[in-house]
Amino acid sequence: MTSPREGAASEPAWAAILASHAGKPHHLLQALREIQHAHQAIPPAAVAQVAETLDVPLARVRGVIGFYAFLTEQSWGRYRVLFSDNITDRMQGNMDLLASLCETLWVEQGRMSEDGLVSVDTTSCTGLCDQGPAILVNGRAIPNITPERLGRIADLILAQTPMEAWPAELFAIQDNIRRRDVLLNDDFQPGDALRVAVAQVCAPGSAMEAAANERSWREGIPGAALCAPLSTLEEIKRSNLRGRGGAGFTTGMKWEACRNAPGKERYVVCNADEGEPGTFKDRVLLRSHADLVFEGMTVCAFAIGATHGFLYLRGEYRFLLEPLNEVLARRRAANLLGKSILGQAGFDFDIEIHLGAGAYVCGEESALIESLEGKRGVPRNRPPYPVTHGYLHKPTTVNNVETFCAAALIAKHGGDWYRAIGTAKSAGTKLLSVAGDCARPGIYEYPFGTTVRQVLADCGAANTLAVQISGPSGVCIDASEFDRRIAFEDLPTAGAFTVFDQSRDMFEVARNYTHFFAHESCGFCTPCRVGTAMLKATMDKIAEGRGTLYDLAEIEKLDRVLHQSAHCGLGHTACNPTLDTLKRFRPMYERRLKSLDFESAFDLDAALARARQMTGRDDAGAHLSMESEP
Ligand SMILES: Cc1cc2nc3c(=O)[nH]c(=O)nc-3n(C[C@H](O)[C@H](O)[C@H](O)COP(=O)(O)O)c2cc1C
Ligand code: SF4
Repeated sequence: MTSPREGAASEPAWAAILASHAGKPHHLLQALREIQHAHQAIPPAAVAQVAETLDVPLARVRGVIGFYAFLTEQSWGRYRVLFSDNITDRMQGNMDLLASLCETLWVEQGRMSEDGLVSVDTTSCTGLCDQGPAILVNGRAIPNITPERLGRIADLILAQTPMEAWPAELFAIQDNIRRRDVLLNDDFQPGDALRVAVAQVCAPGSAMEAAANERSWREGIPGAALCAPLSTLEEIKRSNLRGRGGAGFTTGMKWEACRNAPGKERYVVCNADEGEPGTFKDRVLLRSHADLVFEGMTVCAFAIGATHGFLYLRGEYRFLLEPLNEVLARRRAANLLGKSILGQAGFDFDIEIHLGAGAYVCGEESALIESLEGKRGVPRNRPPYPVTHGYLHKPTTVNNVETFCAAALIAKHGGDWYRAIGTAKSAGTKLLSVAGDCARPGIYEYPFGTTVRQVLADCGAANTLAVQISGPSGVCIDASEFDRRIAFEDLPTAGAFTVFDQSRDMFEVARNYTHFFAHESCGFCTPCRVGTAMLKATMDKIAEGRGTLYDLAEIEKLDRVLHQSAHCGLGHTACNPTLDTLKRFRPMYERRLKSLDFESAFDLDAALARARQMTGRDDAGAHLSMESEP
């Protein structure tokens, strides 16, 4: 059935969108996103037109639509309500709220209402765990859902109020910054770091000066123009900055490898996909420290010699798009982007923002690059790495939002200043996204080396049973480990710090995470596609009281297979939450087990129940004994 909105959508609406992307195959995802946004679906008539206008095969258009959760050819109604379904949303009662909304709107979860008005379903974590439960309505984030706020939303939907006319306070999102350290406290002004960077000189008599003079003589480039980028790179290396996106690779080495890679064009990519459940620190940096992010990207461009940058923003953070574009416009006006930045001839760099469309795997850097190129976000084979073969197979530096912020401050204050903060192996500070069972969820910035116990005390956590560090792909620790430290050498983290108190069932926590991985597996490689589905089925089987010791052993085997043969980090880490909780909270699993050694995942008896009822043979025991007769 056609929704009122879809019926009203005229062909010229998507035709106008397509005009701005004509002949640009790499814009495929962006074009589809914009059409989806305007029409709440990709109208079937638009699909062939997209292929023709962007000059891509029809199969690729369909493949891309099928890959991303937020793109759909099928209409989901004039209003599509998606409940964030992270474990913290669950702990705050999201499923009861979802059920009550379905009841009010007379709609079944996962189906469009008969009149085409509305659909209600769940989606992966929306990055608002500090103010959950949260929902998306037509892609717009609404935090702090209570029965009262949900009632108002239902009324607005039933009255068919256009979203532009919904009260602005419904969409108000807080930063919730609870602890600041050197990064969040810096009195940074746009241009602070770049002015220092372009004024850098080579140390007199240094090898760098000799190399710059040699190139200067050969290529006719002024020596100072070569010294400044090299010295900036040297400061980043001296700082010992390591990536904040999870893997912790040394940033200076990455930049240097990209600078030295053969080729003329280079790219800088900021990874703002932030899809790990429980993580929301990049949301806050992008909202309240966007200049610092863009300045860090521009410092990187200066150091590696790039002329073009992308910020890949997760679709759930669409509400940040306009404010971020305004910051970019201000920076262009201030000559901090564009041609001859700060009057330096040859220092040309600009940034464009690309939106994701609901795929966690696109946070993996090579998948992200595929997505930037307008394709399905399937991770590439590596090597070669993005530093040599990234966007359009050109040298590309991909860094996390927080890494770029730290890089800007290093350019401003120097590498030695930064290295003196934190521990010997983990320089600087780390932003934590603290959520779950605590009085003060939000953003906490600490020097590396801070204990988990300290964070728990600061955020007002009581009777804590466990903390999930770095989201489902990270590690779960119990109370005996709260003196461990947030640091690459002990507890590395991309940022999530999710607290569970004594009332929580860690089996259910792990089960929620296995559902997440099964849902987000991109399906490219068999071990992950099948393995995450098997893991989910096993956890569901245990939850239904049909699990056995055999199943627990199978989980360990599955982990070995996924570690050895999955294509990317998603598959490698998919069993982490189950194994960690099994190790630390085994009784929570064992009390659900049947005492049998083996129990089929398929319940034959339950499957035959309806047939028995229809034939009047409803005695399961009789049925079984008949089968066992010779
Ligand atoms: C499944 C998966 C999801 C990821 N998601 C993110 C993400 O949301 N943000 C991020 O910065 N890095 C993410 N990463 C890590 C990136 O691949 C990459 O290491 C990182 O962006 C590099 O930046 P850094 O060196 O500044 O940490 C993810 C990795 C995997 C395997
Ligand atoms: S491991 Fe999973 S997410 Fe990664 S490529 Fe394979 S199927 Fe895709």
